[in-house]
Amino acid sequence: TKQRHVAVLPGDGIGPEIVEEGVKVMKQAGEQFGYHFQVDFGLIGGSAVDRVQNPLPTETLQICWEADAVLLGAVGGPAWDKNPPELRPEKALLRLRKELGLFANLRPAKLFSGLEQSSTLKAEVLEGVDLLVVRELTGGIYFGEKRREQTERGEKATDTLVYQDYEVERILRRAFEWARNRRKKVTSVDKANVLESSRLWRQVAERVAGEYPDVKLDHMLVDNCAMQIIHRPTDFDVIVTENMFGDILSDEAAILTGSIGLLPSASIGEGNRGLYEPVHGSAPGIAGEGVANPVATILSVAMMFRHSFGDEQAARAIEAAVTCVLNQGARTMDLAAPGDLALSTDQFGDRVIEELKQQQPDP
Ligand code: NAD
Ligand code: IPM
Ligand code: MN
Repeated sequence: TKQRHVAVLPGDGIGPEIVEEGVKVMKQAGEQFGYHFQVDFGLIGGSAVDRVQNPLPTETLQICWEADAVLLGAVGGPAWDKNPPELRPEKALLRLRKELGLFANLRPAKLFSGLEQSSTLKAEVLEGVDLLVVRELTGGIYFGEKRREQTERGEKATDTLVYQDYEVERILRRAFEWARNRRKKVTSVDKANVLESSRLWRQVAERVAGEYPDVKLDHMLVDNCAMQIIHRPTDFDVIVTENMFGDILSDEAAILTGSIGLLPSASIGEGNRGLYEPVHGSAPGIAGEGVANPVATILSVAMMFRHSFGDEQAARAIEAAVTCVLNQGARTMDLAAPGDLALSTDQFGDRVIEELKQQQPDP
């Protein structure tokens, strides 16, 4: 059996509910595909602030360092929104990504057939949607200098958008490499008509593109991209972009699939260690009701098998199980038509487990 060490950080809001389903699926897949997991739970976010006055306790960081992979639910919520910056739940997530060097965030958005009706967009626009947002995750305006000061005109707040060429280069390389396994098309999204950091981004993208002559590179301004992504979504294969643009465009891309409750993510760096989390947040409005869609988290577990354990077969088995359950018409509340019966978070998870059991490893 393969020994793997996984840190599990449920976090806040719906985090614990969806992570429970993710862990269930991880353990079932582990059993079928020959893994023995050591699972360590850690505190993160607002729940960690409440317990130990620190959104990212040292112990949590430690178990993540020791782990092969981290599975995270979500952090944040209204209870902590007035906290000082260092005691905000979101700060923990940013620090964790930075400390682990996870500069590449993969956010695939693929349409499951049958879910066109769950989207507010027209079915014919969505037909064949399959794109990958490659979001730079440890630089840009999220990590530049921040400042507050008093001036004669009142208060002043500053955030700084900084990129170095090496940061742009390494994320572009990842985008080109992933594009090679897909439809060989990279759209680099920036705001080069205004931002100096975007002009550097474009230059570096052009240079890196020279090393990948088999992949087509286009540039697109982010405002246009925000429109094109819902106008002609099937034109996109890989979208590579800076931290904040990637954050915004990936939530927008969720609507191409029907719900943000479906979008998984993987955050990786130089090694195999990765952080796996849904794209969505802690959804405080539905927390504690057992109605959240666990698919984004379950598909993040599939990405964990693929990217951290190099196990394409187990990843595909999980994805196939989710596809089967959706094909059977099972829906959580976010996807159900008004008036239709929706499954609870754990009922949906149980259905995935049943289908996963039918997926056998190749002899
Ligand atoms: P959100 O993603 O939590 O919710 C947006 C909308 O989507 C809400 O209507 C919510 O009910 C719905 N939704 C989200 N996930 C769902 C799921 N699995 N199933 C069904 N419906 C789902 O975004 P928000 O409301 O802007 O943010 C809420 C909190 O989450 C904030 O504190 C924010 O900072 C935090 N947040 C955390 C992460 C993270 O931990 N990675 C990501 C985004 C937002
Ligand atoms: C995400 C979230 C985070 C981000 C927040 C909670 C810091 O929105 O993972 O998409 O902006 O990166
Ligand atoms: Mn986001």
